[in-house]
Amino acid sequence: MTDQNAPAHAPALALPIVDDELADRLRARMSEVEQALTGHIRSEAGFVTTAARHLMDAGGKRFRPLLVLLAAEAGTKASSDDVITAACVVELTHLASLYHDDVMDEAALRRGADSANARWDNHIAILTGDFLFSKSSELTAELGADAVRVQARTFTELVEGQILESIEPPVGVDPIDHHLRVVAGKTGSLIATSALYGARFGGATQEVEDALAAYGDLVGTAFQLSDDILDIASESDESGKTPGTDLREGVPTLPVLLAQRSTDPGDVRLIELLSLDLSEDAPHAEALGLLRAHPAMDEARAFVMERANQAKALLTALPDGPVRDALEAFADVVATRSS
Ligand code: FPP
Ligand code: MG
Repeated sequence: MTDQNAPAHAPALALPIVDDELADRLRARMSEVEQALTGHIRSEAGFVTTAARHLMDAGGKRFRPLLVLLAAEAGTKASSDDVITAACVVELTHLASLYHDDVMDEAALRRGADSANARWDNHIAILTGDFLFSKSSELTAELGADAVRVQARTFTELVEGQILESIEPPVGVDPIDHHLRVVAGKTGSLIATSALYGARFGGATQEVEDALAAYGDLVGTAFQLSDDILDIASESDESGKTPGTDLREGVPTLPVLLAQRSTDPGDVRLIELLSLDLSEDAPHAEALGLLRAHPAMDEARAFVMERANQAKALLTALPDGPVRDALEAFADVVATRSS
């Protein structure tokens, strides 16, 4: 039987940190976050705890809580309890959204494990997502009314982004602009909030808080765009998800939108395939093969790097030193990640 009190997941830091002192501190604080998360998702009903722990225990890079901890290092109160609470809030919100997202995507795998909808069913997955989001909301209340307002706005943006992803771009709106709005909403918003919460509860100045929130928005968008590139580029389920899912589900991503702009006669077959239902294996494999070899992949990668560079430029609001270096590394890792 699983010990429902022990955190099963104690990840290595998901970014290279050169400064040993900072790395040790962040590792210790991440352990505190893991311990706290395990406590926060415990329910009196054993099954609810099991369902809520399912994806948390499956792994995950914990990018969002790590960003809270790292942004907090830019302030004078990095070791405050509120920083741990804020880190839990963003991870629980993220986790909640994954349960819902896998239902919408009909995904079978998440974090290398069965998705909750595959392991149980859609009802359990949706309600477990609701449970996690309600736990996150309860916790946000401990941070005060302003934090609740930020969390509510973030939730609005997450949901708007997710809804906009399901509709065609309105007439007159460029498909890539529409897509970038989707990505900023469904992923950028929570990562921006992670950086903002870290700066705020870590006691940073208003100038640093604003810079880090803008940095989080850009890094968050880059994070989702590189995730989408990986969905096409990865040959196996090394990312813990089934590759090619977006294409199969007809979810537009940047490489697809860029390829669709091509007027090269050599791209006629790919563009035709991209307009078809790709839920069957044969056309899906053909489209995936053509897309992987298409220059749109490198164009998309360059776009992501550009975002990461814009994010890094905002870090001039912070003094030189290990925290700024680590935030720069964070932007680089997000833009160039391979899993
Ligand atoms: C993953 O995108 C999904 C998101 C980043 C956000 C999903 C948001 C919702 C489902 C709104 C509801 C939110 C809450 C808090 C209950 P993806 O499908 O492109 O990425 P994937 O490859 O990881 O599945
Ligand atoms: Mg998904």
